Amino acid sequence: MNMLDSLFEKNRTWADGIRAQEPDFFLNLSKQQTPQYLWIGCSDSRVPANEIVGLQPGELFVHRNIANLVVHTDFNGLSVMQFAVDILKVRHIIVCGHYGCSGVKAAISGTRIGLSDNWLRHIEDVRQKHAGFLDITNTEPWAYDMLCELNVVEQVMNVCCTTIARDAWERGQELTVHGWIYGLQDGLLKDLGITVSNFSEAATAYRAALGVLSASPRYGKNG
Ligand code: CO
Repeated sequence: MNMLDSLFEKNRTWADGIRAQEPDFFLNLSKQQTPQYLWIGCSDSRVPANEIVGLQPGELFVHRNIANLVVHTDFNGLSVMQFAVDILKVRHIIVCGHYGCSGVKAAISGTRIGLSDNWLRHIEDVRQKHAGFLDITNTEPWAYDMLCELNVVEQVMNVCCTTIARDAWERGQELTVHGWIYGLQDGLLKDLGITVSNFSEAATAYRAALGVLSASPRYGKNG
């Protein structure tokens, strides 16, 4: 007996449930997809993109990796973004981090994992970059939350700086980049206030988001 039979059973129940409401749902969806959003999130099993925002198959184009990073030379992530923007013409790119991110925690605690340490080095870079208001020796819980937020803000900027976003804006394509964070403990999303609809807005939005973040009473030195 296949140990994963239960997954096939759940799949049938799920598909039957959708077809019961809309008999041609899958047939119609198989012909084309027209998602409005690209989601760049963490691979964490507790942060399931579609479910969090209540979207059906066909409505959300998704890229997930450890710690929702946007790396300038990651051709996997860049290819997803290019397909989403140039071909699917999504209107929004949402970078969504989450509190309690194991990738961020590994970077903050210096825990060695293996190959992934090289990937997570990008988070250590974020931490170093903001050493001015996030003391790099600080391992308090609030510093961990703050780094999760800072990481999102930095990844939004990385999206904005890609040739993909810049070329789209240059040709007048409507595209807005957002930075959100998800709470594992309450299931709720929070907008981090960095919203960019044009490359010329990016630097100002970045500075404003960092200002709000560093002044937040949630964080130790301000509390
Ligand atoms: Co994570």
